[in-house]
Amino acid sequence: MGNKIGLAAGFDKNGQLIPELEDIGFGLIEIGTVTPKAQPGNPKPRLHRLEKHESLINSLGFNNHGMEAMLSNLKSLRRRGALGINIGPNKNTKFENILEEYLILYRAFSSHADYITINISSPNTPGLRNMHDPHCFKDLIRQISAERSTSNDKPKILIKFSPDENHDTYIKLIEILNNSDLDGVIISNTTVDNDLKIKSGATSINGGISGKLLQDKSNELLAFFKKNLNPKKIIVAVGGVFDVDSYNKKLDLGADLVQIYTGFVYEGPSLVKRIVQNGK
Ligand SMILES: Cc1cc2nc3c(=O)[nH]c(=O)nc-3n(C[C@H](O)[C@H](O)[C@H](O)COP(=O)(O)O)c2cc1C
Repeated sequence: MGNKIGLAAGFDKNGQLIPELEDIGFGLIEIGTVTPKAQPGNPKPRLHRLEKHESLINSLGFNNHGMEAMLSNLKSLRRRGALGINIGPNKNTKFENILEEYLILYRAFSSHADYITINISSPNTPGLRNMHDPHCFKDLIRQISAERSTSNDKPKILIKFSPDENHDTYIKLIEILNNSDLDGVIISNTTVDNDLKIKSGATSINGGISGKLLQDKSNELLAFFKKNLNPKKIIVAVGGVFDVDSYNKKLDLGADLVQIYTGFVYEGPSLVKRIVQNGK
């Protein structure tokens, strides 16, 4: 990995743009979220700019071409940087079958990526965030870890969290992670915080908020994880990075790596080089 700045999940949902994104300067690229079967996502409009707040609100709902299409895109790939693959269940999958889908996706992609992200935090797949329930979470961690132990491919495994749970829940989830061999966390996905929706005037729009409105919330959660997570675990920080200062702030708060999405949309590709040249 050439640098610590990565592209967050949801931009290259099918793994079609990896060489171009590497040219822009990203040291790591996370593709997906990929689901087992192709699915169209939610009806449009599903992506809005909240320009005054330099934020986005999206309800895409894992629109993607599915597992087989991504595998075929990866077949001829000669990549130069680190690659993460973000996996999630299909929209119509019953909650009791979600865990099986993570295992299917993990098996399919474990030999293709430096790390696999288990996405339990999209607000746009109904019920998915219930995977933050400590009992479900414990089962997930146990089974995914057992799956990795049975094969030769051993990508790192990261869990991507919602920023909208309460502290008691996070403490329980962190304890489960600390007692596991999973490698780390991504903090955080988009927020459905009602106060932020009111602040931005977006109460009538469905979806998760990203960008500057998310920055404080994701930074607070980052600091909380840094304080409580076993220091051997990796922390990838994402949420509201728009410039060198907001990038450095994530590192100061304890991030090992930093990702961007909304800042990349608003500022354009030159942001990546500015961060690589001038960031910590
Ligand atoms: C349009 C859009 C689509 C996204 N799709 C995904 C996704 O498929 N999987 C995922 O884990 N996160 C997804 N995200 C969340 C981002 O990866 C990131 O966690 C979030 O936007 C916060 O970072 P930012 O403030 O730099 O945008 C998406 C975000 C946006 C704006």
